[in-house]
Amino acid sequence: MEQIIDNYDPKAPLEQAWTIPAAWYTEPQVYELELKTVFSASWQYAARLEQLRQPGNYVTADIAGEPIVVVRGSDNMLRGFFNVCRHHAAAVMTAAEGNANQLRCPYHGWTYSLEGELKGTPDFAGVCNFERASNGLVPVENSVWEKWVFVRLKREPALGLTDFISSELIGQFEPLALEKLHWSERRHYTFDCNWKVFVDNYLDGGYHVPHLHKGLDSVLDYSKYTIETGERFCLQWSPMVSEGAEQETAAVRKGHRALYYWIYPNFMINWYDGAMDTNLVIPRGVAQTEVIFDFYFPDTSESARARNLASVEVGQRIQDEDEAICKSVQKGLNSRAYNAGRLSVRREAGEHLFHRLLHADLKSGL
Ligand code: FES
Ligand SMILES: [Fe+2]
Repeated sequence: MEQIIDNYDPKAPLEQAWTIPAAWYTEPQVYELELKTVFSASWQYAARLEQLRQPGNYVTADIAGEPIVVVRGSDNMLRGFFNVCRHHAAAVMTAAEGNANQLRCPYHGWTYSLEGELKGTPDFAGVCNFERASNGLVPVENSVWEKWVFVRLKREPALGLTDFISSELIGQFEPLALEKLHWSERRHYTFDCNWKVFVDNYLDGGYHVPHLHKGLDSVLDYSKYTIETGERFCLQWSPMVSEGAEQETAAVRKGHRALYYWIYPNFMINWYDGAMDTNLVIPRGVAQTEVIFDFYFPDTSESARARNLASVEVGQRIQDEDEAICKSVQKGLNSRAYNAGRLSVRREAGEHLFHRLLHADLKSGL
């Protein structure tokens, strides 16, 4: 295992760098190690803030394979917990979201307050050395940025959300005025590939756009596509053109520029004038990936429905185009003919950053 991780040289500058080895995309042990390190030590998107406006609102999530619930307490405080009953470990809340007066486990009916304290334990009299007070739900750190609630499973080493995403990134989002955008719908996509194949594909600096996404390519000024990397994020952006643009795409991808933000390891925010979507990349096995898309628009009223839907459909077409290529890459990574590849200096600085951050996290878990 150690050798698989050491087969990558994180010190090589981009001009000399190789991609991470194929085994990182195909070995179940690497996948397990990623859940314990990459996904447990990073801040992970868990909910939209607007789902948690009222006391009693809750959202469940699966983070690094662990059940999580985020709840707004009666005191209006937002709290995160492991959604694991202290009795025999069943998930306490089972719906994706909702509103509750208390958190009741469906298995044997134990109840917890919205603040996570154990309240009710039916038929439990006579049990020795059992303290209700120390059997509340186990808390998990949570933090809010813009429209989103994030949680972090590990507490050590301490690393606040602001430091994790950086004040540089936070500053770049302020002028985008995301409060003017409203959530409209969610779509799930499944990819037959390792989660990193999807992220690599996203981070290739538009390299694949002229070849794979003709519609999207027609609205982007490909030669001016720019890649900027921060400590744990990458911004790819491109000026937009209207001349020669394919109509269907141009109708819903307007404005002067498109901004594509990736936040390590698995969250993306795609911003256009008048539209935004986020992508959450969830590993569902070594060669299975679920990507959850949330779409936001300035106007989500009935009169804007058709226009918003047209925008979502353009996104869907782009996903379909990516789905086939990701599957093909996963197959190739399993071939004896391939171990690693080189990176374009012009285009692939984002992937280089991604691979170096992964290496650091995986090393920490060995
Ligand atoms: S597992 Fe929750 S009450 Fe038994
Ligand atoms: Fe793509």
